[in-house]
Amino acid sequence: MKKIGVLFGQENTFPPALVERINAMNVEGITAEFVEVGGVEMAKPCPYAVIVDRISHDMPFYRAYLKNAVLTGTTVINNPFWWSADDKFFNYALADKLGVAVPRTALIPHKYYPPDINGQSCRNMQFPLDWDSIFDYVKFPAFLKPHDGGGWRDVYHVHDPQEFFEAYDQSRDLCMTLQAAVKFNEYFRCYVVGQEEVHIMPYDPRQPHHLRYVQDPPEYPKGLLARVEKDALTLCRALGYDLNTVEFAVEDGVPYAIDFMNPAPDADRHSVGEANFEWIIDRVSKLAIKKAQNPELQSTQFNWARFLSGGTMTTELAGKPAAKKAARK
Ligand SMILES: Nc1ncnc2c1ncn2[C@@H]1O[C@H](COP(=O)(O)OP(=O)(O)O)[C@@H](O)[C@H]1O
Ligand SMILES: [Mg+2]
Repeated sequence: MKKIGVLFGQENTFPPALVERINAMNVEGITAEFVEVGGVEMAKPCPYAVIVDRISHDMPFYRAYLKNAVLTGTTVINNPFWWSADDKFFNYALADKLGVAVPRTALIPHKYYPPDINGQSCRNMQFPLDWDSIFDYVKFPAFLKPHDGGGWRDVYHVHDPQEFFEAYDQSRDLCMTLQAAVKFNEYFRCYVVGQEEVHIMPYDPRQPHHLRYVQDPPEYPKGLLARVEKDALTLCRALGYDLNTVEFAVEDGVPYAIDFMNPAPDADRHSVGEANFEWIIDRVSKLAIKKAQNPELQSTQFNWARFLSGGTMTTELAGKPAAKKAARK
């Protein structure tokens, strides 16, 4: 019997529904349950063929456990090695190399350094920083936001240098990016599963939480959703994420990717709504079963590494057709 384990934190709806759905599918030789883990022996296989990881970004013990699990033959959604290495600034830069539209983004040195770092440690750092050239590149209005963050924490909308410095002063020792604001009309949040299926959810980040997933979307300009789907796939294939959300803010018909490092995306029934919840439960259940049946599907490659030797990958990634079109509603 192959076991699929779900590793999770404070979520209440997605993990039990996933376990229930996989078990209800009655696939021969497959069963699902919540992961149980205590002390971990090095290099000893764990009892799960697949682990769906919803929490290791917040818990170093879980991340280390998962790396050991992959080493000993478990497939983990998402690859804990790559998740550990990725950051949002890298993935903006990668998007740019891939030809996916992304707002001008600069990496900014920390306002306050982490403990144990002092002036002596920073002798490579330009001082004073050339703020004018950073502002000239990004331009205002802009968003100051962490290079590795989530849940809208420490995200500031700034309109001029004064607002920028007020926000920067509050950014503690976080590593921040400054990104040109997209003056968007449409905004999409897309689930991307198995690097094959895309579910585009019209979303309005200006609304209160419970109203953000737009119920009656308008007609969109021809080709917009097709481009969103294609770009979402390109990004997830390059990054190697099997479960992710990609967020696009659309200005003048161009979808700009602004947030696409969400390897444990929000999937709470009460926030995403019943139809989206059903979609994600169904697709992640099927993906986990497929991975349990085909251990060779653990993603082990850093697909983007081809850039490092001067190669390209855009056409190849974008050209691979999506498995099903049903995702677009
Ligand atoms: N470049 C941008 N242009 C317009 N809005 C942005 C931009 N960056 C962030 N935002 C707004 O801030 C919100 C949170 O930023 P985001 O990058 O999605 O970070 P998080 O990972 O915290 O969700 C977005 O949903 C969007 O409403
Ligand atoms: Mg976001």
